[in-house]
Amino acid sequence: MKTFGYFDDKNREYVITDPATPFPWINYLGNEDFFGLISNTAGGYDFYKDAKFRRITRYRYNGVPMDAGGRYFYINDGKAVWSPGWKPCKTPLDSYECRHGMNYTRITGSKNGIEASVLFFVPLKTWAEVQKLTLRNTADEAKKLKLFSFTEWCLWNAATDMENFQRNWSTGEVEIEKATAPDASPAGLTIYHKTEYKERRNHYAYYALTNAEAQGYDTDRESFIGLYNGFEAPQCVVEGKPRNSVAHGWSPIASHYVEVELQPGESKDFIFLLGYEENEREKKFSLTPGEKGVVTSLGELDHTIINKEKAHEVIKRFSTVEAVDAAFGELCRMWDGLLSKFTVTSGDERLDRMVNIWNQYQCMITFCFSRSASFFESGVGRGMGFRDSNQDLVGFVHQIPSRARQRIIDIASTQFPDGGCYHQYQPLTKRGNNDIGGGFNDDPCWLIFGTVAYIKETGDFSILDEMVPFDNEPGTEVTLFEHLRISFDHVVNNLGPHALPLIGRADWNDCLNLNCFSWDPNESFQTTENNSEGSKAESLMIAGLFVLTGKQYVELCRQLAASVCCDSVATYRTEADRAQACIDAMVEAVKKHGWDGDWYLRAYDFYGNKIGSKECEEGKIFIESQGFCTMAGIGQEDGMVDKALDSCKRYLDCEHGMVLNNPAFTRYYVEMGEISSYPAGYKENAGIFCHNNPWVIIGETVARRGNDAWEHYTKICPAWIKDQQLHKVEPYVYCQMVAGKDAARPGEGKNSWLTGTAAWNWLTITQYILGIRPTFDGLEIDPCVPETLREYTVRRVLRDAEFEITVKNPDGRQSGVRKVILDGKVVEQTTLTATPGKHIVEVIM
Ligand code: BGC
Ligand code: NOJ
Repeated sequence: MKTFGYFDDKNREYVITDPATPFPWINYLGNEDFFGLISNTAGGYDFYKDAKFRRITRYRYNGVPMDAGGRYFYINDGKAVWSPGWKPCKTPLDSYECRHGMNYTRITGSKNGIEASVLFFVPLKTWAEVQKLTLRNTADEAKKLKLFSFTEWCLWNAATDMENFQRNWSTGEVEIEKATAPDASPAGLTIYHKTEYKERRNHYAYYALTNAEAQGYDTDRESFIGLYNGFEAPQCVVEGKPRNSVAHGWSPIASHYVEVELQPGESKDFIFLLGYEENEREKKFSLTPGEKGVVTSLGELDHTIINKEKAHEVIKRFSTVEAVDAAFGELCRMWDGLLSKFTVTSGDERLDRMVNIWNQYQCMITFCFSRSASFFESGVGRGMGFRDSNQDLVGFVHQIPSRARQRIIDIASTQFPDGGCYHQYQPLTKRGNNDIGGGFNDDPCWLIFGTVAYIKETGDFSILDEMVPFDNEPGTEVTLFEHLRISFDHVVNNLGPHALPLIGRADWNDCLNLNCFSWDPNESFQTTENNSEGSKAESLMIAGLFVLTGKQYVELCRQLAASVCCDSVATYRTEADRAQACIDAMVEAVKKHGWDGDWYLRAYDFYGNKIGSKECEEGKIFIESQGFCTMAGIGQEDGMVDKALDSCKRYLDCEHGMVLNNPAFTRYYVEMGEISSYPAGYKENAGIFCHNNPWVIIGETVARRGNDAWEHYTKICPAWIKDQQLHKVEPYVYCQMVAGKDAARPGEGKNSWLTGTAAWNWLTITQYILGIRPTFDGLEIDPCVPETLREYTVRRVLRDAEFEITVKNPDGRQSGVRKVILDGKVVEQTTLTATPGKHIVEVIM
């Protein structure tokens, strides 16, 4: 079977060996404020904090060919014009390799005795992408070549940038600074992008060559590329001659021209820096208009020359190879630290690489980007999701707890006083997003889910005392604990005719729109809710989610009762009892009205008709309610959990994982909405959602069925992908959806990277299969593994404690702990206190 690359676990890299992958296989640069997306052929773009409002470089979505726009280098060696990443020139290379690592990518190509290798990364605490290009002469004769860099500026707002041309094509402005920092040597050359800088904007971007002289430049796209050429053959590159163009409107770009001579065996490094800065209003402009060496769009009369102090500082900082290498070392060391909190050695390299490297890496990426910017998310449509972000932080909290803490406060600050929430917020302003609004009735529960995970990881109960506003309105602050209480009560206060939760606009399944009833193709399924008055639409998914997170809430209240002083004890106890009664009532309601005989129903529709029942013509069974109700253990004593799990295997499972519903919908049901708009087998209509497979897998561990849990786990796990061509998207990260058994191409993946799948699979494998689970008190050991897994060792750092836990399974069991030896002594309990220091633990199953 054809492969396009392989894992290099030692270096924590995925190595792509053929540039013509079945889809662009991308990576992410940066993890704080400045971000970049980069494909294996150097396509992609950069932005600062917000992919919509501060887009730095331009990208063309859905272009032909795919993946157009990026950070391109062109080499004209006299015989050929080529790019180290193969694209955009597509000149056949003598060798090609792309290594995607932890927040960096290295692309190497060679041609005619020249090797060009570019390392792309964003240094820590820096608002710039470094591109270190190394050119090496591998031939026996001296080489002369012409090098061109290229990037195209986005006019800041990524949405209007691609639509408002009557304005855009007249606004572009640049500055070219031939002598970079005043005392820099060599002088270097920096191109500044300053569109709209003179008025309301206080920010600019720049593209610098910091450690070498440039012999020319271009800043106007048409001059550089030529109106009738594409990225693959810019006229300047082909002719080997820059135009030294100055952009006036149209499309400003940045390109350096450098003449390079290399002796046999010689290599030279060129440092390029693509950065972004903001100036205070009173320090926006340089005091010396018409400064020497600065060429601007407005010419001599320009009174708006950028005060470049901040850019100069960064340019200077990264003007030597030593400094760049040191910064790269720091980034790698940061990842050493992040990935050392949880490691496993299991004897199965696929499992180890997922747990130790790629699943954790993807959790960081989803935490940073939510659902905003990927090759499936354009970065203009969606902000940070309320439910999404809470789920993401569960996969990330062990890495940098302080950032998870801040995220929880940011999310909770968008909540409304009745516990309802904005479905999304914008990362730049942190304010709730009015375009989408609220009314997704699962949202509040996720705040409990996220906060409890944070406290169990850190032991930091003080977060509950943080004063957090409603809808970001100053003066409305209440404690975070109070936000959790109203989250819990939002479900309690919104029950339907069967005492099950009202679904609202939608629950986790954004496409099960039971109050939408849309016949108008111009309406959005997401925001249309034209028929909710008197609706009887209820969700069994929220019922399960409520029981699961409600139990966490009760446990939290009891924990608080045990740790606070006199008066509050009774308050928390009473609250715990009250909440428990609500949960018990919900469990009863599910047993009475939510069970279909062999599985849990999915919902009741507007009219009170069953959804996800054997009585239905299509969509007889859905995965979400099976996942949440089994995770919550509803009716386990009556055999409901086992039966539901068996039904998942029987009706939902296939070679590539479990589909979302079965049979798929083959026609449009106006009372169900978007779900029935998708062709059978795709997305929410019976696609394989890698996001909710783990719910059933955790359900399997609740039922103590380790073999089944494992089988489901490996079916959707990237490291087990056999057919890369069929899978199509990156084989090192999860995708949201794989085409299901009813689809035209079952097994074809889509929507890679930004999905709650990362966090859920992390939770599943670490806490429920390997069974190393943080609790309020410490670390619970509760493996539920396939009988073939006979031994594994986990290193887990929890708070100030470090555990090295070896689990032995001599008899090939699937669950159950018979003996725990902690630091040489047999102990009774399976929950280990996080006592500071190192602990050696042996567990016998
Ligand atoms: C997709 C969902 C997504 C929703 C939100 C729908 O079209 O199918 O997966 O969550 O849009 O924008
Ligand atoms: C993607 C969304 O980001 C997530 O919030 C939603 O739950 C799933 N799609 C399922 O519809």
